[in-house]
Amino acid sequence: MITPQKISLANIPTPITEIQFEGKSFLVKRDDLTGVELSGNKVRKLEYLIAQAKKEKAEIVFTTGGDQSNHARATATAAAKAGIKSKLFLWGNDSAKANGNLFIDKFLGAEISFLDKNNFENVNQIMFEERAELLEKGKKVFVIPEGGSTTLGIWGYISFMEEIKNQIDLKNIEGIVAACGSGGTAAGMLAGASLLNIDIKIFAVNVLYPKETIKKKILDLAEGCVLDYQLPCKLKRDNLEIMDGYSEEGYKNITKEKLELIKRFARQTGIILDPAYSGKAFTAYYENFITKGKSGKNIFVHTGGIFGVFGKLEKYLSIC
Ligand SMILES: Cc1ncc(COP(=O)(O)O)c(C=O)c1O
Repeated sequence: MITPQKISLANIPTPITEIQFEGKSFLVKRDDLTGVELSGNKVRKLEYLIAQAKKEKAEIVFTTGGDQSNHARATATAAAKAGIKSKLFLWGNDSAKANGNLFIDKFLGAEISFLDKNNFENVNQIMFEERAELLEKGKKVFVIPEGGSTTLGIWGYISFMEEIKNQIDLKNIEGIVAACGSGGTAAGMLAGASLLNIDIKIFAVNVLYPKETIKKKILDLAEGCVLDYQLPCKLKRDNLEIMDGYSEEGYKNITKEKLELIKRFARQTGIILDPAYSGKAFTAYYENFITKGKSGKNIFVHTGGIFGVFGKLEKYLSIC
């Protein structure tokens, strides 16, 4: 087995907290607490990706996401920490009143290229073409695809499985529930559980891609990782379950019902969930596990996203 190198960026292990909500108790793995500017799930992947960028002596890292992308913000932060420049290719518009993640991107001095929805569909091509141009001028660029979801990046969530295994007895746990965008988090959990021989369901709440698309993406990534790193295991493909239907309002939107749940949760636990990811994933967890009395056997992973709340302040405030 080949184990890739990493650098230390995240405050880990993150705590597992027992939460009481509406008379039910359940465990939440607080991956929102991996840091402050570097908070959320992306930091775990960046420990491996930035290590590789440094190894390749990159002067600049490119990455992509929405204008409130947590991943882009975490990349800009991690790159600053590593002394590497960053350029972000973001779906959205520039805003003089940049808020949340976009504010941090700008404040850290990341170069930003804004793309409309049509151009964003070709973002990988755009990044790789620009990389080729810079390479001709002798500049080394390290490209991190959407969400840091590569066979290297998902090692962040292979390590997560080892971390959680050392924290609690997983024998009585049926599944782990987490928000799913580019699929790397779920892919890492699936590969990690297979490698460590943990029989656990990985419930991925898809907020960005249709069910079948994301399922294939996760399985391809996890299988790719098994091959690339010669993991001595067979992927437990059947343990992946996509919890579909929790982002019908669209990735950049959130329904009033979900916001009301986010508000109730915040007021009873002090934990604020974000509009794009954790708020939608928690809605799935609430409807499928909490209200059905199954929360005790399933862990919710809070994957972060707090800065995204500031990009939707008016919506949050409208229900206060
Ligand atoms: C807060 C948060 N949760 C979950 C995810 C989903 O992770 P993945 O892209 O690995 O599926 C993201 C991705 O950007 C995120 O920012």
